Amino acid sequence: MPHQVVIFGASGDLTSRKLIPALYLLSRKNRLPKETKVIGVSRTDFSHEAWRNELLATTKKFAGSEFDEASWNTFAANVFYHAADAAESDGIQSLDRFLKELEAGQTSTRLYYLSTSPKLYEQIIAQLGAAGMAEESQGTRRIVIEKPFGTDLSSAKRLNLSTHKVFDEKQVYRIDHYLGKETVQNLLVLRFANTIFEPIWNRNYIDHVQITVAEEVDVGRRAGCYDGSGVLRDMFQNHLLQLLMITAMEAPSRFQADFVRDEKVKVLRAVRPLNGSDYARDTVRGQYDGYLQAEGVPQGSQTATFAALKLQVDNWRWSGVPFYLRSGKAMSCRTTQIVIQFRQPPHMLFADGARPATQCDANRLVVQIQPAEGIQLEFQTKVPDAGMRLRMTDLDFSFQREFTGVMPDSYQRLLLDALNGDASLFARSDEVELAWGIIDPILAAWQSDDAPPLDGYPKGDWGPDRSDKWMHEQGRQWFDVCPVLH
Ligand code: BG6
Repeated sequence: MPHQVVIFGASGDLTSRKLIPALYLLSRKNRLPKETKVIGVSRTDFSHEAWRNELLATTKKFAGSEFDEASWNTFAANVFYHAADAAESDGIQSLDRFLKELEAGQTSTRLYYLSTSPKLYEQIIAQLGAAGMAEESQGTRRIVIEKPFGTDLSSAKRLNLSTHKVFDEKQVYRIDHYLGKETVQNLLVLRFANTIFEPIWNRNYIDHVQITVAEEVDVGRRAGCYDGSGVLRDMFQNHLLQLLMITAMEAPSRFQADFVRDEKVKVLRAVRPLNGSDYARDTVRGQYDGYLQAEGVPQGSQTATFAALKLQVDNWRWSGVPFYLRSGKAMSCRTTQIVIQFRQPPHMLFADGARPATQCDANRLVVQIQPAEGIQLEFQTKVPDAGMRLRMTDLDFSFQREFTGVMPDSYQRLLLDALNGDASLFARSDEVELAWGIIDPILAAWQSDDAPPLDGYPKGDWGPDRSDKWMHEQGRQWFDVCPVLH
């Protein structure tokens, strides 16, 4: 059966940097359904050939060593371009005619991919509805929506509502590219395909959890647009909370979309809401030095480029175990990691006074999401020929050492899942709204008297000093280690 991937926002950055390279690599690996056609839609006038040539240059760059001319030619023969304003009825109807021409009377699966400015989402969805293009009488119809899903709870609700007027929830695939990362999926495997971790994955053994998404890059040319969102909207509402859900969720009874998402949603429901003085006590915010000078940033902007949050998950498994989430731009290095910090042994037999035991010497499981994908389990070992002196050592698993081949970009997995109708790794509407329900009050508090100070931090640092002090005051310490790339 023919499949069509219809990309709205064809001339955008995401299309050339991620979507087309991912589709091309899937085609090269023979993973796309037979007869898959890719149709780019945007207002710019292009011929099919001109668009293919543009994509050739960018795909060569982004697919790197995996690119080869012959497989590109096979793929490119199924790439088409249609110039239209998809937010207008004439535009969307002309697109429908073009898609039907390509389908030549056959039933087809259509995957509409919204990669335009988010401002256009609701209009395009409404036009698809008005043109009958979401109806499934001629084949399956699905829609993929790129983040952001709204800019706060009320706009997210509105977007969900407008989407549901046209598409059933089961037709909707909201992308959070973190869920497409191999190492994030592997966290599910680590937890639920092994017997040794799950029995200790709870408040009886775990002191706290740290989830860090540090970026070395600053906001660069995106400054103007970034300033309207800041780190909480850009990273926490989606990626950080997704990592929290995967770390904290119960095992679903099946690996199927709603089974997985039901468990994830329960985690968000259990997150204790902050209020009043909690914001100053449990959140830290920062802005890297020089941010205000970036082009497009309004004078005196109070936008945070760094945040750290302490969240509590109020359920039987996690009661009393804080989850520390932090993310920032212009930090020491690029690293995304989840640190499971275990408790001290109940009685320290070997603390010899010369080297008092600290919490950092307790066991730690470090899940390296990127870029040095792997897992380290740290434990105490007796230093040979040194009395009973102990040192932390680790069992070190690295994807690169263990497996050959390049780590695929997350869009390959997600596009393929969407084509095959598997929504396990996509956000459901209630998940998105619950996530905003956690972030919205923090955003509001940061505009009010309850806000913690907005501290500066030098570029290339782990955030403002306050972030370290804050952890120390709680008897804890950030795991500030840049990954070693093998
Ligand atoms: C995006 C954010 O969603 O994720 C960017 O908008 C951020 O600001 C990016 O840089 C990080 O993604 P990754 O996959 O590079 O960690």
